[in-house]
Amino acid sequence: MKFSGVKGMNDVLPALIGRWQEMEAVAREVFALYGYREVRTPEVEHAAVFARGVGEATDIVNKEMYVFEDKGEEMLALRPEGTAGTVRAFVEHGCHVEGPQKWYYVGAMFRRERPQKGRYRLFHQIGCEAFGIAEPAVDAEQIALLDDYLARMGVRAELRLNSVGDASCRPAYLADLRAWLSSRRDDLCPDCNDRIERNPLRVLDCKVESCQPVLDRAPRLLERLCPSCAAHFESVKGALDALGVAYHLDTRLVRGLDYYVRTAYEFTSSALGAQSAVAGGGRYDPLVETLGGPPTPGIGFALGQERLALILESAGRLVPERRPAIFFVTADAEGVREALRRAAELRKAGIACDIDPRGGKMKAQFRQAERVGARHAIVLGGNEVASGRAKLKDMATREETEVDLAGLVGRLRA
Ligand code: HAM
Repeated sequence: MKFSGVKGMNDVLPALIGRWQEMEAVAREVFALYGYREVRTPEVEHAAVFARGVGEATDIVNKEMYVFEDKGEEMLALRPEGTAGTVRAFVEHGCHVEGPQKWYYVGAMFRRERPQKGRYRLFHQIGCEAFGIAEPAVDAEQIALLDDYLARMGVRAELRLNSVGDASCRPAYLADLRAWLSSRRDDLCPDCNDRIERNPLRVLDCKVESCQPVLDRAPRLLERLCPSCAAHFESVKGALDALGVAYHLDTRLVRGLDYYVRTAYEFTSSALGAQSAVAGGGRYDPLVETLGGPPTPGIGFALGQERLALILESAGRLVPERRPAIFFVTADAEGVREALRRAAELRKAGIACDIDPRGGKMKAQFRQAERVGARHAIVLGGNEVASGRAKLKDMATREETEVDLAGLVGRLRA
């Protein structure tokens, strides 16, 4: 019986893991520069955390969440995103007493979506959340962080920016939008029609070609913001200008989660096709309170690692794996024993090396040395052990030199 992986859930094999290690290492480095600290929360939460946090009316909760009953006890869910669980942890541990907090996470998320390029059922996010600061400066600083990160990854993505208002200006707009959309039902696709009542804002997000001319003329929330949301948005734009971060206003950018207020943003790349967002986020000031905490503003984003990997792949960016400095080719059992001892010595000194303890034909062992990308090979057997000297072969030039086995570490360091 041969198994295959679950649909929409991919393996990352060692040959391609370099990109993933790089994206995580650079994230840790950059995020620390901006004062973000790592948090790890479970992949599983009470389903209610997402229903309340992300919103019952969203596709993510309503259609895509993996929910299960834990042996007749309680309803749990595989996390479809990282923000709600992070906020749950923030509230549960009373972290607000320590003042503003900037956190980041790296991990697996699950959504039962229809798999296609850039859209999977298991995917990985690198996300940032900043708690306790309502000022627009933190919005701009966080967007600049993401811009900085993408630049360091060698990725060019377009920043799309919008404001989705708040409880004081959105409801009136939504009522108008709903009425406006209802009067154009015949020109809109079935999905749009479905959403007009339930989630009219999401209609603006529709990608169906024939809906575009209609939706481009829809009333714009950006023109209907209340004075405080408008002032907030102006400040965010001003701070981005001051930081030299370029953006495009996108009045139809609404995001697929219910918790957003005010600033909403996405970085998109043409290398991605239909699923063009490599990262997205925004402000979610009411969320901490919604999940039982004290009023605490927040803003965050998450970047999709699979999508970033696709961009790096399309740019032909290969991250080289660490190659062993030495590959020990063994002639006999004595050679294997000596190779193990010398390999331990080298590794203690921080020098990567490898050995094929199967022994066997030397030609095959040299081929293995080539396959793992070793810089040098050393042949070890009874003769070499007796003389304490061996041949060091440069795998690229095929040149051979004699080395003293006892002085191997020093020689390689030099
Ligand atoms: P999101 O826009 O749903 O936001 O996801 C963020 C990113 O995750 C997307 O831009 C995309 O790169 C990636 N992503 C989402 N779904 C999939 C999928 N099915 N397959 C592959 N990649 C995917 C959030 O999740 C929010 N929690 C972001 C946030 C954090 N907002 C505030 N703080």
